[in-house]
Amino acid sequence: MKEKLDDLLRKALGELAASSSDDALQEIRVRYLGKKGELTAIMKGLGGVPAEDRPALGQAVNTLKDRIEEEYKSKLSVIRDVKKAEKLRSERIDVTLPGRRRSIGTKHPITLVTEEITEIFAGLGFQVAEGPEIELDFYNFEALNIPKDHPARDMQDSFYINENILLRTHTSPVQIRTMLKHAPPIRIIAPGTVYRCDSDATHSPMFHQVEGLLVDKGISFGDLKGILTIFVNQYFGKGTGVRLRPSFFPFTEPSAEVDIACVMCKGNGCRICKNTGWLEILGAGMVDPEVFRHVKYDSEANTGFAFGMGIERIAMLKYGIKDMRLLFENDMRFLNQF
Ligand code: DAH
Repeated sequence: MKEKLDDLLRKALGELAASSSDDALQEIRVRYLGKKGELTAIMKGLGGVPAEDRPALGQAVNTLKDRIEEEYKSKLSVIRDVKKAEKLRSERIDVTLPGRRRSIGTKHPITLVTEEITEIFAGLGFQVAEGPEIELDFYNFEALNIPKDHPARDMQDSFYINENILLRTHTSPVQIRTMLKHAPPIRIIAPGTVYRCDSDATHSPMFHQVEGLLVDKGISFGDLKGILTIFVNQYFGKGTGVRLRPSFFPFTEPSAEVDIACVMCKGNGCRICKNTGWLEILGAGMVDPEVFRHVKYDSEANTGFAFGMGIERIAMLKYGIKDMRLLFENDMRFLNQF
């Protein structure tokens, strides 16, 4: 019997020493010491042993049990220490490494251009005005002398919410809202977002404009040309050529389209200006008396001029951006250049 116990102990200790996981250890412990384990079986057999041998044998079994239990515990703690050390090693953080720098954002080119344009006009005494992007037909069209059957109202161009409400198609309604609220003189610049059902490399359904309006006594077409020339010289550089071409807008009379000498070829002709040497940058004109009538201004006493330009277009010309969609894709590689 004594021999059998020694054998058992040797086997158990050997197995414990060879195992390398919590689970394996647990399995060995159950196999030897559990209710259905080998040691329990031996204990059960104690009944057949002569009475005088029983105490010694019982003690031997208990010692063996304690030895296995002890070995189990010590091996378990070794395995756990190894595991812990491994975890600490794998999760090690080098606190001496420099921190990750958080990148500071840059202003979006549209914001930049809007601010630059606004600043130039602020220097000329213009105040910033605003209006809603969801606009009434009256402000967006009617009061700007764009009658009901005008093609600009076509469903294909305007995003209508209902018959009477739409997303503003230009910043010109801010002219009306301002004049209805304030008596002349007026000198405002109105940057903002506008919407049109149009989308390709040079058109986006959502884009930006800056509107200008100046109304006072004795304002002439010469004032319009003077102000715009100052703007062009400040924004595109001194000596940039400016040219006004006759045009038509329902809300101005006379109307003009304003060109600047091509920023790429300085007027010699290139791909950007389609060999004309000129680039169109805005629409402008003298406020139509019909517009003054809608806002109840005396068109005998007051005259004024207005202009409107597309900010994306200006940004594309200024920075040589070929595709308008780049401005809305939020690609960091593009945006970080500004
Ligand atoms: N609202 C016009 C457009 O979106 C631009 C414009 C032209 C505005 C002439 C004006 C103006 O104030 O006088 O195309």
